[in-house]
Amino acid sequence: MKNFEGKICFVTGGASGAGLGQAKVFGRAGMKVTIADVRQDALDNAVKELVAYGIKGEDILAIKADLTNREEYTAAADRVEEVFGGPPHLLIQTAGVNSFGPVEASTFDDFDWVMGVCLRHVVNGLLIFVTRMINAYAHKTEFHVAATSSGGAFMAGSGCGPYSASKAAVNNLMYSYAEALKPYGAGATVLCPGNINSDIGNAEKYRPENLRNTGYHVTEGTMAHLRSVHATGIDPIELAEILKEGIENERIIVLPDHNPEGRAAELRGFHEVIEDYTLTQAEREAKAARRMEEMQKSFSDDDKGKMSQPPMWEVPEGAEAFGKARKDLDWIDPEKRK
Ligand code: NAI
Repeated sequence: MKNFEGKICFVTGGASGAGLGQAKVFGRAGMKVTIADVRQDALDNAVKELVAYGIKGEDILAIKADLTNREEYTAAADRVEEVFGGPPHLLIQTAGVNSFGPVEASTFDDFDWVMGVCLRHVVNGLLIFVTRMINAYAHKTEFHVAATSSGGAFMAGSGCGPYSASKAAVNNLMYSYAEALKPYGAGATVLCPGNINSDIGNAEKYRPENLRNTGYHVTEGTMAHLRSVHATGIDPIELAEILKEGIENERIIVLPDHNPEGRAAELRGFHEVIEDYTLTQAEREAKAARRMEEMQKSFSDDDKGKMSQPPMWEVPEGAEAFGKARKDLDWIDPEKRK
């Protein structure tokens, strides 16, 4: 997709972080932008930011919806057609939440919440919108579907099992849609960022009441820690510009690196980790030790100096138990409960 002017864009999770950056960038490219999000206060603020960014009020539609809910998602889709006269030409599904703790401590609520937002809402959007998009635009005008996944899609994290699983599924789904939409003259892109400067560190605050039985240790302190990590992430506008370049060039996977060599090296690293799963435990450990040795040899004295400094992410007071299990889960390894 190369021409955005006058077309319609629908961004889920568009009230903050990566989604708001996408609304700004595609809005400035001349699109009418719908931001759909579960938080009304964040939506109100986002509309002000979009206007301040130069996007005309009549080209912005803000919809409050829990997009894990199919009725609410369908109502949002109907509303876009009503206001802008058709389904989106560009669907970007970016809404997401995360939560950290030992995977074996996870509850059904942890899986239902994280996979609900990160995976189920993406499925909802594809099923609700793609038929409408094909009917309205196939062979007539460009259209495209995109999703914001994560570098975590390529790695299994024992401290974020539901998140990694949902992101891996989103990636695969988007590869399927990239193939499937070709005959209709459309494409699909999955954005896999590393760390974004966003509001995701506050997600636990609005976890739905009926999904609050977590197996993880979550406090104000652990959330403060997560916020401090994400404060060092990529700027959402820069990330959205990288996504736009990827969509314009029909890339299926978009990594947050402007440099093709950097992207290739990052993907090779991910692949190596997966390949290593086919080795025996002893072989894998030996390989990891060799890799670490080679890495250390390649460090300059300056790098070594930096490595002896305190960690980049200071752990704020009260956040020592970040990523640990709920303390009362007495069957969990004590080390994972401290
Ligand atoms: P964010 O918290 O700033 O934005 C996510 C938005 O999704 C929020 O505005 C939130 O209200 C919305 N949302 C949550 N549940 C929803 C629901 N049920 N229905 C509708 N909207 C809902 O976070 P961020 O970081 O911008 O996240 C965007 C995407 O980027 C997510 O999919 C996340 O997994 C992904 N990502 C984030 C990374 C990071 O370091 N922050 C790294 C890699 C991927």
